[in-house]
Amino acid sequence: MKHATTAPSLAISWLLMTGLGSAGAAQGGVDFGKSEFETSCASCHGASGKGDGVRFRHFVSPPADLTTLTKRNGGVFPFQRVWDTVDGRTEVENGPHGTRDMPVWGLVYRAQAQDTPHPPDWYARNRLAALLDYLARIQEK
Ligand code: HEC
Repeated sequence: MKHATTAPSLAISWLLMTGLGSAGAAQGGVDFGKSEFETSCASCHGASGKGDGVRFRHFVSPPADLTTLTKRNGGVFPFQRVWDTVDGRTEVENGPHGTRDMPVWGLVYRAQAQDTPHPPDWYARNRLAALLDYLARIQEK
């Protein structure tokens, strides 16, 4: 993998920073995507998803408003683009200012899979799918 030297260390430092490594997978009747969003995304993107999380001031580029993805894409939720952005493994170095402020969730989730009996790719895809389902539900009309 092209970014093998930098990307995993980014994911690991992120895990240490947030303690996410100990967070287990939600089960049962929980809104998995919502709780995932609150755990992993709200600190930057805000509880509402509007980009007003408390950590925004640390970044060169402000965290995006995640409730207008559909609106900004001609009324269609840009599923593939959001998936690739959040997963992040294919575009680690992209970003408006040449660096990426977003954590590389694809790697974070793969690392967390080691605490579960699941194959890393399967686990990461399920986490992403729940999250995208939630994001699609919070879009402004
Ligand atoms: C550490 C802060 C931080 C966290 C945590 C974070 N993001 Fe982001 N996110 C950003 C920033 C900053 C941007 C703006 C562009 C960039 O630097 O990549 C962004 C951009 C995005 C975009 C692109 C939006 C667009 O308009 O194209 C999506 C989608 C996104 N984030 C989803 C998420 C999801 C889902 C999570 C939780 C799994 C999350 N982010 C967690 C900081 C964060």
